[in-house]
Amino acid sequence: MVNAKLKKYAFLAILAVLFTSVLAGWNDSQKAAPGKEKARPIIVQGPMPIEAENFAKRLKNVKEEKSGDFVFYKGTLDKYPVIVVKTGKGMENTAAATAIAIERYNPIAIINQGTSGGHDPDLHVFDIVLGKRTVNLGSLKTADKEAGQGIDPTAWKPMDLMASEGSAGEDPNAEKARYYEGDKELLAAAHEVKDMYTKGKIVEGTIGSADVWNNEVDRIEWFHSKFGTSVEEMEGASAAQIAKSYDVPFLGIRILSNNKVNGGKYNPNTAAANQDYVYEVVKQYISYKSK
Ligand code: 5AD
Repeated sequence: MVNAKLKKYAFLAILAVLFTSVLAGWNDSQKAAPGKEKARPIIVQGPMPIEAENFAKRLKNVKEEKSGDFVFYKGTLDKYPVIVVKTGKGMENTAAATAIAIERYNPIAIINQGTSGGHDPDLHVFDIVLGKRTVNLGSLKTADKEAGQGIDPTAWKPMDLMASEGSAGEDPNAEKARYYEGDKELLAAAHEVKDMYTKGKIVEGTIGSADVWNNEVDRIEWFHSKFGTSVEEMEGASAAQIAKSYDVPFLGIRILSNNKVNGGKYNPNTAAANQDYVYEVVKQYISYKSK
């Protein structure tokens, strides 16, 4: 009697195991075959319409998606998935658009590109800076002063919000700038197609970002010597910070549309020129990834 019951349970257990393995097999067959995984897209960000739409127009099979104010142009370039994102201007828009893009599309790399203002007197309108490093120029700690002692921006110190989870204001280890490194493979792709760009020179440098447009030449020079900035804009460091927190390769690519330091007047045509160059960089990067 006991024996018969045991046999029955054993039979049922075997049936259950068989059923689950059949289900698991079915699940596996729903996934892509090995070596045929869906390619992870490359994200190309541009803040303003003139900094994103030119690139988006050159993609094939474009499908537009929106989230908040952010527009994602999902398409292909050389049959590889590329998503152009119109982020809107500034650090907050860019951070949010970057996080949404990473969560939604699992990108293999992110390029943040657009116009910028020169900090280096040797750089001219239409020159392009490849962001070997990107830094937030709005992360600052002021000097200690009492009421009536005034304000002194040249005494302000850089502040690293990522130094620890403790108070950045009290932590002496946080009194330094945080530089986000440009990804080596993206930089290599950018260098490889440099000769295709003929409107100016292309150099590696430091991109500084904040929701500020600096027009005081002494202040620009202060950033240039203290933070080593080549150019300033309003997005790169926020995208770099979020990309780093998810470990996604990142590069900023910025063309000078103006340079107050050497009298370079604003030229909006630089936005399209930069996208044409970044298109070649993305093509080159795709050729690495398709190997
Ligand atoms: N300072 C700050 N941002 C600039 N931009 C172009 N030139 C400058 C500059 N001198 C870019 C920013 C922002 C928009 C105002 O143009 O990245 O998107």
